[in-house]
Amino acid sequence: MIRESNVLWVEQTLNESIASGNVKIIQNAIETSIEYLKDFTGEGAVVYCLEKAKKSYSTERKTHYCKRAISLLHGEESLPYSDIVPSRWMDYSEIKTESLWIMKDRKRDDFHDASYWGNFVPQIPEQIVTRFSKEGDVVLDPFLGMGTTAAVALRLKRKIIGIELSNDIAEKAKSKLSSVGLVNDSARIVSGDSSIISGEEIFGDWKREVELIIMHPPYHDIIKFSRNPQDLSNAISIDHFLERLEDVLINVGKYLLKGRFLALVIGDKYADSEWIPLGFKSMQVALNNGYKLKSIIVKNYEGTRGKRMQENLWKYRALKGGYYTFRHEYIFIFKKV
Ligand SMILES: C[S@@+](CC[C@H](N)C(=O)[O-])C[C@H]1O[C@@H](n2cnc3c(N)ncnc32)[C@H](O)[C@@H]1O
Repeated sequence: MIRESNVLWVEQTLNESIASGNVKIIQNAIETSIEYLKDFTGEGAVVYCLEKAKKSYSTERKTHYCKRAISLLHGEESLPYSDIVPSRWMDYSEIKTESLWIMKDRKRDDFHDASYWGNFVPQIPEQIVTRFSKEGDVVLDPFLGMGTTAAVALRLKRKIIGIELSNDIAEKAKSKLSSVGLVNDSARIVSGDSSIISGEEIFGDWKREVELIIMHPPYHDIIKFSRNPQDLSNAISIDHFLERLEDVLINVGKYLLKGRFLALVIGDKYADSEWIPLGFKSMQVALNNGYKLKSIIVKNYEGTRGKRMQENLWKYRALKGGYYTFRHEYIFIFKKV
């Protein structure tokens, strides 16, 4: 990152040229500054602004863009809930801001693999953690599974609390995280039922506050994760599932700071010849409990490995049954009010 002395150098070079009022001197200062800034990463928005100055014809326009670049260099405040500085939008080409997410490949790395049924692609928590938390914040995932959120959050220098009903899966997540050097003072992986687990068990001696919650519950009984009746995938009906989801939301949501975000990742289901809008029903649970809806993101969904291998059969079934096979799921973004 650029240091204060470098900022001052660019500022002085540009300001002196502006004071001269000579368009050639200004142009020269702009070009020198662009060249100088190329050695620093993360100054994309400043360089972009200077490029605009370079291409402008009038002294006024050149001066305008130079001044804008100087204020960008001095660093505008980041958002209260994330490290993003909106005016540096040029530097965030990786960050999604549109509501349709087509993710072609499951991003592979030393941590992530698709061996646990129902885990999500790391790009999902990556996007959410980057946009809705700051370095050092606590991220809570009450349906941890194999720990995708934990791995991503730790890499992005956040703290993580993960709750997973199955002790076996929680242990696997822990050992996987430690095998890639990720379990440290910044992680608490606990086993328990997120709908009733106590604050003491969740936080131990940590402060009882979280800055972001990411929830990826079972999509009712589409995948049965265990035989445990406390498992949401064993809810006996849709209404029962929604009640259980509400219990979890209330039990862990009370620790989320006001003004902070909750992301819910869920898909719909099809049963008894009927499309069940599980996603929207679950969304309503959050709306009934003090959350404001900020976005509905639709993400493509590749289905299970078994389903992919039977594409022709699914095509036949869809044509015969008068429906469409699922190719999407939802990411609901809420703000606690
Ligand atoms: C869809 S998976 C989450 C996968 C996770 N996002 C990942 O990438 O590995 C849902 C998880 O919730 C767990 N679960 C179900 N009911 C639970 C409950 N009452 N409390 C805590 N975890 C629960 C299941 O065991 C399962 O691992």
